[in-house]
Amino acid sequence: MDRWFRTVLLGAFFFPALVESLVRHYNFSVVLKNTTKLCATKPLLTVNGQFPGPTLYAREDDTVTVRVTNHVTHNVTVHWHGVRQLRTGWADGPAYITQCPIQTGQNYIYNFTLTGQRGTLLWHAHISWLRASIHGAIVILPKRGIPYPFPTPDKEKIIILAEWWKVDVEAVVNQAAQSGFPPNVSDAHTINGHPGPVPGCSSQGGYTLHVESGKTYLLRIINAALNDELFFKIAGHNLTIVEVDASYTKPFQTDVIFISPGQTTNALLTANQGIGKYLIAVSPFMDAPIGLDNKTNYATLRYKGTPANPPTILTSVPPLNATPLTDAFLDSLRSLNSEKYPAKVPLSIDHSLFFTFAVGVNPCATCVNGSQLVAAINNVSFVLPTMALLQAHYYNIPGVFTDDFPGNPPITFNYTGTPPSNIQTTNGTRLYRVAYNSAIQIVLQGTAIIAPENHPTHLHGFNFFVVGKGRGNFDPEKDPQKFNLVDPVERNTVSVPTAGWTAIRFKADNPGVWFLHCHLEVHTTWGLKMAFLVDNGKGPNESLLPLPNDLPKC
Ligand code: C2O
Repeated sequence: MDRWFRTVLLGAFFFPALVESLVRHYNFSVVLKNTTKLCATKPLLTVNGQFPGPTLYAREDDTVTVRVTNHVTHNVTVHWHGVRQLRTGWADGPAYITQCPIQTGQNYIYNFTLTGQRGTLLWHAHISWLRASIHGAIVILPKRGIPYPFPTPDKEKIIILAEWWKVDVEAVVNQAAQSGFPPNVSDAHTINGHPGPVPGCSSQGGYTLHVESGKTYLLRIINAALNDELFFKIAGHNLTIVEVDASYTKPFQTDVIFISPGQTTNALLTANQGIGKYLIAVSPFMDAPIGLDNKTNYATLRYKGTPANPPTILTSVPPLNATPLTDAFLDSLRSLNSEKYPAKVPLSIDHSLFFTFAVGVNPCATCVNGSQLVAAINNVSFVLPTMALLQAHYYNIPGVFTDDFPGNPPITFNYTGTPPSNIQTTNGTRLYRVAYNSAIQIVLQGTAIIAPENHPTHLHGFNFFVVGKGRGNFDPEKDPQKFNLVDPVERNTVSVPTAGWTAIRFKADNPGVWFLHCHLEVHTTWGLKMAFLVDNGKGPNESLLPLPNDLPKC
């Protein structure tokens, strides 16, 4: 058992009144470290020398402080992906959105309270591509004495899926930026830090999930990969999904999990098969005609008492373009929507937005073909400023951003058909501004410009309800009639299907500047991002808290 957890349990036993909610302190040192699990030619950027990084454990209502100290030459920030950060935007972490980076030798204390959330989330670096190796799990346990709304598991296991490059990821990004071409795909997928078969690397052994016959396990599965949506399967075993993105769901059984970068999925696994070894397969999903990355990684589920060297029971791997599997999984997700955990879906809307997601090509004098790949929302390729947007907003500094982000694309066209002849995008640091507590609906429309692609889209500062999704162009007359406004899944990252659309709703009850972007890092880099500016409300607890003294300077 985790050390602090034991201390907390002891504390709860002797001083029940004192431990209602706690302040949990963590220290994160960003250091270069060689990890024995990987045949690294270069040391990795890590937190505390660990890959994946340390797990942050807390309970709902706890306050967490994390002192991040930067001991490497790269600038660093850390984002607590999915943590609501109510009024504490300063602790959210995206570089140049809510803070300037922590420079070499400096530190910054992230200070936030976990309000109204319980489940699994992840933390990761939020600058350039550093989250490749700087990431870890966040486990938010329910309040003391409050059980899970599903049978209590015997044990819990964290499973972190990621991607690994043999070279410094910064070199990969820089080379792509200079050439105008797409960046190189990763050299391996990892499962809790273990790579699959990597050419030129002697195997360091895969991850083993040890189980005991008859017991039930809560798997906390995290996709921390940069650019790959993934399938997760265990031979011979079904999984019961009970939570996604730290929101409880109606339980349902499946033999395959679909999980996008930035998403988390909690699943119950019962060890109810014969003693032995079973294959766990993690494989990518890509239904665009551009799939290059087809690396499958494997781990092993091993029952206690399995004799030495038994044959491993195998499972089939879903095809790379298994779109129907993704639909079946996503369509099964529903909010628990119980008395204790109601789904508070906004029913009347103040801002109805339509965002087109596109990859395009812009001229680039220094690039190899005189052009470079870009990406945009409503034709705006978002440009990061050189100081933090939240600071500029707080101090009213002019010239850093404008608040005229378009709520609709500049021209209407057949989004999922033949693209318009001019696919050049405009650059801008444009925010969409709303009053405190506005109800917002966004239809995220994928386009077929260059190639139709799936975009896992993440919104900072809020959970949203996924009220609808479909293929082709969104029909504003017919499609809203089919929206689920009763028990839609609540999450912080959602897939916009290839050549299709997804509709989300949320209440802007959190003042600050909040990033929205494709969580495929390749698309974020190209400009597939924007931000909301939510003004302070008038009530007593409706304003952004003052900025902390140690907030880094640019
Ligand atoms: Cu998980 Cu803006 O990121």
